[in-house]
Amino acid sequence: MTNAPEGGAFPRVRLIAGAGSFISDAAGGQAERGRGKSEQEPASNRSSENLKAPASYRALTLRAATSNETRRFSPPRRFGIKGMTATALKEAPVQANSPHHVETVLWVKHWTDRLFSFAITRPDTFRFRSGEFVMIGLPGETKPILRAYSIASPSFAEELEFLSIKVQDGPLTSKLQHIQPGDKVLLGKKPTGTLVIDALKPGKRLFLFGTGTGLAPFLSVARDPEAFSKFEQVIVGHGVREVAELAYRDLFTREIFEDPLVGEEAQKQLVYYPTVTREPFQNQGRFTDLIASGKLFADLGFDQTKFDPENDRVMLCGSMAFIKDMAAVCEAQGLVEGSNAEPGDFVLERAFVG
Ligand code: A2P
Repeated sequence: MTNAPEGGAFPRVRLIAGAGSFISDAAGGQAERGRGKSEQEPASNRSSENLKAPASYRALTLRAATSNETRRFSPPRRFGIKGMTATALKEAPVQANSPHHVETVLWVKHWTDRLFSFAITRPDTFRFRSGEFVMIGLPGETKPILRAYSIASPSFAEELEFLSIKVQDGPLTSKLQHIQPGDKVLLGKKPTGTLVIDALKPGKRLFLFGTGTGLAPFLSVARDPEAFSKFEQVIVGHGVREVAELAYRDLFTREIFEDPLVGEEAQKQLVYYPTVTREPFQNQGRFTDLIASGKLFADLGFDQTKFDPENDRVMLCGSMAFIKDMAAVCEAQGLVEGSNAEPGDFVLERAFVG
């Protein structure tokens, strides 16, 4: 198995650019701060509860309109029952029994030759909790090819966003990377997962560590007001090999602070900590090493050298090796793994592998 995650990202809001600021530590590390899944599903497979999205959230779009984004597709209005033709009505029962929705691609953004984001329409009946994943796919020659993808938009978003790796010979992503606005993709009907706030005990600090496309579920959690109401601080850590792979850096250094819904809280409570392992960057090294050595906490300006089981809660998403090694670090520092059935101090999920 490669440890390149194949899965994957963000709601839609037009945001005004603001200046990022930095917290520096004595050792010279910096936390950027803003103002201005593999083919196998993760272990947990409980269905999500049907949470209702507040109507006031629905208009939100929090998306960087950057140059390499493919133009947005405006889908035709969905047929309501009244507008259905006789044929559509005849077909309706078949559609209702299908395990998948057929949704329309709204936009595509290519970050690098290994990484892209896309958004699809959200069916009215589709409910999920921020941080969950769902099956995404394309029709295959004999049967659909589907993989588990973390939903990168928060639970109330109008559209469903995903962050994906591109694997040239990957059964799904070799094709999925070529999707265009207006194309159809399959969306599973049962979002699920453990990277949800409900699977954690109450605490003061929420650490979200993702490597590669393992950032995706945290794009959802960190844009949900619940994260800021339940925790005093939300720390988003993104670890990548190369600087270009720091997808959504603009979001966490700038755009989120202008978000009408969570902007004010994010200014006070959100810290972004990107780290790069194979190129020079302001923060360097693997999270495992940065945490075990205490450097991460020093860089963040926190008065601690390791996790505090009383107050710190952690979510992990990345390659198999990453979550295994990070889980060992968390456990060595006294944190206990949680689940939907039994909330704990940390939760983990493996990101997609191409
Ligand atoms: P490194 O470059 O030292 O391998 P990948 O693309 O392979 O999933 O890696 C994404 C990031 O996660 C890279 O910075 C990589 O560091 C880091 N990483 C990979 N495996 C581990 C691990 N077992 N523990 C901590 N970090 C890891």
